[in-house]
Amino acid sequence: MPTILVTGGAGYIGSICVKNLIDQGNEVVVYDSLERGHRSAIDERATFVRGDLGDRTRLDRAFAERSIAAVMHFAAYALVGESVEQPELYMRNNVEKGKILLDACRDHGVRAFLFSSTCATYGEPKEMPIHERLPQLPTNPYGESKLLFEKELWKAEEAWGLRAVALRYFNACGADGDLGEDHEAETHLIPIVFEAALGTRPKLFIHGDDYPTPDGTCIRDYIHILDLASAHRLAMESLLSDRGARSRAYNLGVGRGYSVREVIEAAREITGREIPVEVGPRRPGDPPELVAASDLARTELGWTPEHSDLDTVLRTAWSWHQRHPHGYGD
Ligand SMILES: NC(=O)c1ccc[n+]([C@@H]2O[C@H](COP(=O)([O-])OP(=O)(O)OC[C@H]3O[C@@H](n4cnc5c(N)ncnc54)[C@H](O)[C@@H]3O)[C@@H](O)[C@H]2O)c1
Repeated sequence: MPTILVTGGAGYIGSICVKNLIDQGNEVVVYDSLERGHRSAIDERATFVRGDLGDRTRLDRAFAERSIAAVMHFAAYALVGESVEQPELYMRNNVEKGKILLDACRDHGVRAFLFSSTCATYGEPKEMPIHERLPQLPTNPYGESKLLFEKELWKAEEAWGLRAVALRYFNACGADGDLGEDHEAETHLIPIVFEAALGTRPKLFIHGDDYPTPDGTCIRDYIHILDLASAHRLAMESLLSDRGARSRAYNLGVGRGYSVREVIEAAREITGREIPVEVGPRRPGDPPELVAASDLARTELGWTPEHSDLDTVLRTAWSWHQRHPHGYGD
């Protein structure tokens, strides 16, 4: 079985993909600075190298640990608000340091590369659902940084034969047993809803209820992390087996959106708890609706999301939050 180097394997999505990869019989080297991740989220069966993407010496050490067949690149900063305040931080971490990783791949002969991209690269598209051929016009520096790195992948294909898949996630959510979502500055709806249900957060803010949607709140496409993990596994298999294929991008969403109010109502039912809310103003740059067309991943990768119905998403996340009311506690 191949050895995969996973950057950001101590983070939310990376840690769950690492577990999934190891369960499938792969060897994994996790590369993470831990600045936004959790040591205890890293699967004990993985080899862990603590290091920053910008540290070429450490990267070389990680590549030398084993013969690496493919890289899955999750490590990034992913807070839209922070990116607006500090755009240069996002360009440095998500683009410039990512390029150092690409150089290391080139020099260590790694040609298969999976990248955690995002629907934020599309900005506020005119068409819904969003398919991969729509223009990518990000409306914030986070989305811009992810788009710029995608372009680095396409350039690396031309320059030295990298074969990359960019997976454009919609809203990642849910938990897998003892692995769940714990961001220090949490901005995602579902963990915030459960923090409010547990009382570890006094209330949750609805950012605008005057959008042109049926109940006035924003609609998003929620994709369970186990479905993200299966897409990564399938994309990696296709990169490692399908020698002639070109680099490409796939949307990962289910094609069905839920509004903020629908999520809160479903969470109230599942938890049996109050969940105090306050309606505030809109956040700049929040499109009313973001829903994926994911036909390409389904037909080309044979991907079928199996865990992304709202009930499964919320129940797995609630179970995790009840058992980890203070997250990983580090
Ligand atoms: N969570 C979502 O809904 C979502 C949606 C679309 C795309 N994404 C993308 O998925 C990826 C993972 O998201 P997440 O929610 O798991 O994030 P996360 O913050 O939980 O994990 C990111 C990990 O990367 C590490 N990291 C960051 N910069 C690093 C650096 N320079 N060197 C080494 N390690 C570094 C952090 O320590 C952390 O462990 C990100 O690239 C993000 O842009 C996430």
